[in-house]
Amino acid sequence: MTHIEFRSDNAAGVAPEIVQAVADANVGSVIAYGDDPVTAQLHDVVREVFEHDTARVFPVTSGTAANALALTALCPPWGAVLCHETAHILNSEGGATSMLGGGAVMRGVGGDDFRMHPDELRAALDGIRWGDPHHSQPAVISITSPTDMGTIYSVDDIAELAAIGAEAGMATHLDGARIANALVALGCTPAEMTWKAGVDAVSLGCTKNGALSSEAIVVFDDAAGDELVYRTKRSGHVTSKMRFQSAQVIAYLTDDLWLRLAGNSNARMKRLAAGLEPLGVRFVNRPDVNMLFVDVGEAAAAAMAEAGMLFYDMGGGVIRLVTSWQTTDDDIDRALDITAAALAS
Ligand SMILES: Cc1ncc(COP(=O)(O)O)c(C=O)c1O
Repeated sequence: MTHIEFRSDNAAGVAPEIVQAVADANVGSVIAYGDDPVTAQLHDVVREVFEHDTARVFPVTSGTAANALALTALCPPWGAVLCHETAHILNSEGGATSMLGGGAVMRGVGGDDFRMHPDELRAALDGIRWGDPHHSQPAVISITSPTDMGTIYSVDDIAELAAIGAEAGMATHLDGARIANALVALGCTPAEMTWKAGVDAVSLGCTKNGALSSEAIVVFDDAAGDELVYRTKRSGHVTSKMRFQSAQVIAYLTDDLWLRLAGNSNARMKRLAAGLEPLGVRFVNRPDVNMLFVDVGEAAAAAMAEAGMLFYDMGGGVIRLVTSWQTTDDDIDRALDITAAALAS
């Protein structure tokens, strides 16, 4: 039986263009630890793609590292990071930001569709005893888009939250583990979704969307960039052969590869969702990008798994389906046939 992969975009392989870029960089020898010409070129590519003359980029090895390092460069040890209560940084990173941030705390803020609501953010900030050393002082707003539940913020949503934070003297971070999927869905530029909307630092996800072993922090705030020089080293992210990470990120951002790969996963999810809707199953989230949580019931979930569909079983009949750059129309059609049969039986 050939399985159909919906567990995660992390389960997908590496895009051929990325493999080729690593092979192309594998010529001769260059100076190590990021002082190489490929990493220098990466800075130029990032500045061009993000339309920002002084943006800096730091390749790191995981999205968790990108988040924790970017956040701690923006947050003092006595500070607090505010994010949605379902955010990956709060629930799924083992407290990495607090550890690397010398005890900085994380606070969840509510809001529908797994997105921070401006009123909830204002209420959280109103409840702070500013200047009281007994209380962590909010320093950063972290926006995850797409969210962990596959919904996205509009550019205006991001700008509104960032402006509320800026009024309170806070910086804004974007967890862009799947930023390319959001860019494709919004049809906006990377600049519009980030610094033009008030974002100071971005965790630029690459690996879920076809890279091999690199994520990156893109930072528009120079002071945070200066800190990251030391923070990346002290946390073990200044790798000796950084040029191979840089080569991946360059290839990823060149000729819109990242948008084409994400375009595939978004389009396949659209097809999947359009096929599932008439089957009468309940969608837990609005599948804005490449992720759908759907309630098919326990019996159907078991039958779908039995028939070869791979997915995360969230319990109570709810399953998580994620498409990737590798998902094909044939995968979707087979999955829809399997699901229809499982629901009918
Ligand atoms: C929204 C979000 N942020 C950050 C991460 C962390 O990435 P990594 O698993 O590479 O540490 C993930 C991983 O699933 C994620 O979904």
